[in-house]
Amino acid sequence: MARLTWHGHATFTLETDQGHRIMFDPYLDDNPRADIRVEDVRKLDFILVSHGHFDHFQDAIPLAKQTGARLISTYEIVSFCQTQGLQNVHALHIGGGNHFDFGYAKMTPALHGGQVHGDTEGAFTTVPGGWWLDLKGGKRLYYAGDTALLTDMQLLKGKVDVAVLPIGDNFTMGPEDATRAVEFIEPRVVLPMHYNTWEAIEQDPNGFRDLVGDRAEVVILDPGDSYNF
Ligand code: NI
Ligand code: MN
Repeated sequence: MARLTWHGHATFTLETDQGHRIMFDPYLDDNPRADIRVEDVRKLDFILVSHGHFDHFQDAIPLAKQTGARLISTYEIVSFCQTQGLQNVHALHIGGGNHFDFGYAKMTPALHGGQVHGDTEGAFTTVPGGWWLDLKGGKRLYYAGDTALLTDMQLLKGKVDVAVLPIGDNFTMGPEDATRAVEFIEPRVVLPMHYNTWEAIEQDPNGFRDLVGDRAEVVILDPGDSYNF
């Protein structure tokens, strides 16, 4: 059984069938909806960073140093992390994937901003991404990251069991565009993220569920809740 736990905003912990623990976009200590803090995280094997905005990256380096987890992201974000003293890293880039202990991880395109939080000179500005994971045992997960609706998402059709999509609008897709993404991808299950953290991204996830209808099962979590698949 794989288990995906939401920590509010875009932060999730994935525990794989084999027991690997992977965190997506750690944003805990300043996240108004987080159920845990950085200091609560003891065992972590990998940290996947979709892009460098503070609400996805702010706690990644402290968490990597605390747990020894390997940080995986774009070449630019990884290079920035190395300037901050992080050694256990892996760089890849959009369209490229690699085999890790938990399975195959590929960076998918995202249309969004490329600033890297903490990079005061802007030297590491990069292209944001998302993740397509083909976990050992065959479960496939798409974590879109922060992105606009992309027609490229159609290329994921037939390749995704669980899709994690932003629905907050304002900075990313809103519920209507996320519904079009579901039409493109045809996942079995959708988990909405990146909403109700701040006023600008307030959304009713039940409204998103109504829009999706019978195209997919929409699983709505509260921070701290898990979905098993
Ligand atoms: Ni962002
Ligand atoms: Mn964001």
